[in-house]
Amino acid sequence: MEYLIKQYPLDTGALEIQYIEEYFGEFPRKKTATEIMNRLRHREFLILMAEAPLPDDPGMVTPVAFKVVHEIRADEAEPKLKDLVARLQGAVQFNGRKVLYSWIGGTRRDWRGQGHFRALTEESEAWAHASGFHEVVVKTKNKFYDMRGTLDQLEFDVVKYEVHPTDNRESKVYLSKRLTSDVVRAHTSTRTVVYAD
Ligand SMILES: CC(C)(COP(=O)(O)OP(=O)(O)OC[C@H]1O[C@@H](n2cnc3c(N)ncnc32)[C@H](O)[C@@H]1OP(=O)(O)O)[C@@H](O)C(=O)NCCC(=O)NCCS
Repeated sequence: MEYLIKQYPLDTGALEIQYIEEYFGEFPRKKTATEIMNRLRHREFLILMAEAPLPDDPGMVTPVAFKVVHEIRADEAEPKLKDLVARLQGAVQFNGRKVLYSWIGGTRRDWRGQGHFRALTEESEAWAHASGFHEVVVKTKNKFYDMRGTLDQLEFDVVKYEVHPTDNRESKVYLSKRLTSDVVRAHTSTRTVVYAD
């Protein structure tokens, strides 16, 4: 199967992400286009969406999965990112290295298990490696079993585990992957990437 991926610029990408997140009923805190633009405006980022045919109208394609990754630096000023960098101290080396944060992503329920998220992840890794990033980090929770299983298959390593004081399902898991040329060579998905306006 060949995966169809669209790469978006900031403004239209932020609106597309806000739109597709409406399909993720399981997550109450959805990102707004404004929040996405504010976070990404002054840093390197990649907004990717996978498109696939509608089952009852195969002539029509629709966005089915997305992924947003961005640079994260040791000297972050934004409170959420500053906090993240502090929590990654000792687990991820920032000095003299380019670190990518895999911020948000997912696949719509009816299209899960078809390789769309692997395709998006591999495309982001290829881009990141070509852009000089050394490592990609991601954060999830114990209770996100689908994501944990997927990150396992995508060969992310746990670099930190942060126990929640009262509910272990809420405990945070931080994972990372070194972006070497071997990683890129080991990619398995076939992708066509188009650039949206
Ligand atoms: C996690 C999620 C993105 C996976 O998307 P997907 O498009 O179904 O993933 P893919 O089909 O590309 O699968 C990628 C790999 O992960 C594996 N995988 C996918 N779902 C899995 C699961 N629930 N358990 C174990 N492995 C899983 C696949 O087998 C595949 O491995 P392979 O390529 O080595 O065969 C999707 O289930 C999702 O959006 N879940 C909700 C989002 C979420 O949990 N967010 C939490 C906040 S961090």
